Amino acid sequence: MSASASGAKREQWSSRRGFVLAAVGSAVGLGNMWRFSYLTAENGGAAFVLFYLLIAVLVGLPLLLAELVVGRGAQASPIRALEHFGGRRWRPLGGVFVLTGFLILSYYGVIAGWTLRYAMAGIVGGFAADAGAHFGEVASGWDAFAFHGLFMGITIGIVAGGVKRGIERTAVVLMPTLFALVVGLALYAFWLPGSSAGYAYYLSPDFSKLLSASVLKDAAGQAFFSLSLGMGAMLTFASYFDRERNLAGECLTIGGADVAVAFVAGLVVFPLIFALGLEQAVGGSTLGALFITLPQTFVELGMVGRLVGCVFFAALAVGALTSAISLLEVVVASAVDGLGWSRRRAAWLAGGSATLLGIPSAASLDFLGLLDAVANNVFLLGGGLALSLFVGFAMRDPSAEIAPGTVAARWWPWWRRLLRYAVPAFLIFVLAFALPETWAAGVAFFASAGG
Ligand code: PFF
Repeated sequence: MSASASGAKREQWSSRRGFVLAAVGSAVGLGNMWRFSYLTAENGGAAFVLFYLLIAVLVGLPLLLAELVVGRGAQASPIRALEHFGGRRWRPLGGVFVLTGFLILSYYGVIAGWTLRYAMAGIVGGFAADAGAHFGEVASGWDAFAFHGLFMGITIGIVAGGVKRGIERTAVVLMPTLFALVVGLALYAFWLPGSSAGYAYYLSPDFSKLLSASVLKDAAGQAFFSLSLGMGAMLTFASYFDRERNLAGECLTIGGADVAVAFVAGLVVFPLIFALGLEQAVGGSTLGALFITLPQTFVELGMVGRLVGCVFFAALAVGALTSAISLLEVVVASAVDGLGWSRRRAAWLAGGSATLLGIPSAASLDFLGLLDAVANNVFLLGGGLALSLFVGFAMRDPSAEIAPGTVAARWWPWWRRLLRYAVPAFLIFVLAFALPETWAAGVAFFASAGG
């Protein structure tokens, strides 16, 4: 254990592998499969994928390194870490991070609940023939509440268990399992007759779609969500990491693994859908695309489909669990560091509140969609902008935290310049579109709810 910014003893990962797998576990989740495939479908396929990849590398990786540097350097949760390097006036930003964690976790748990419900359907009863109607039942009412509660209970139990015994142990077992499942599913999809149209849709860009501001906004929001950026989750995980390693290497491993899983998940989803001729359903896609088109595919594939479907949704639930853990950990670490609560108390209180906060999302798909848009388009992109400025200007010498005790690499000053100018300029541009659009979506939601 090492001293933290607050001077108290802090828990640490038991090994580098433990840290990397936990961080990859945070990144890889519903974002890579549910969100990635629904946004890819909505934005016309491969052009969106290309945008997303570019933003993940050019904007996402520098910001990921920024979060790792702040977290490990301060050895503290977001509020304290920002104060440690930037003074008291940066504390509110840490507060916004905690709030964002709550917000995302509330609806993330609901979607994760659907995946549990569907994984169970593969074992007991099979997938319903009328997938659309069935999704309607799963995504609202008692099923939605019950499975949301179950999922949140598991998440809370693990976070309450601690950094090493709870979070790390779960990630070390589940992440390799998830990789194996996703690759296996992609190979299975490859052998299905008729799947090639799916690859074409997914991999050959329609460049007429490439330059729209709305696609750009979705791709940026997705890159942030998928890499768990903009709310201090990576910062918090890095705060339990020792000071010896060069963070640039870890940044590439974590970012690379996340992008790779998103990409391979697309190799599962689109070939499966096209092999069965369900592409119209993708065109009219909504939030539920993955939960409607894929079960339909699984029904048509008979008994094998049931097995494959069960594996698919179990993999999804696994990814969701390791990500939800990191969302809750941001809140819990802040309560432990800032309020002196015990981890167990913080986990149950924060997790319980997020579960209750999820009730409106479990009751209304439209509300869930609105929260998802607000969380990504406003909070994560805005949080990323603030963090970029923080590391770019407010921190005295962030480069010194990349690999303390080693000779500075030539690219370090460029990294800081990126965070000072290019990344903020890009995010301000995207936010200029994202904010009015999200505002309009909110107004439309409440107008229709009121009338
Ligand atoms: N990265 C997770 C996913 O792709 O599902 C979601 C997420 C986790 C977003 C943690 C933000 C975060 F802080």
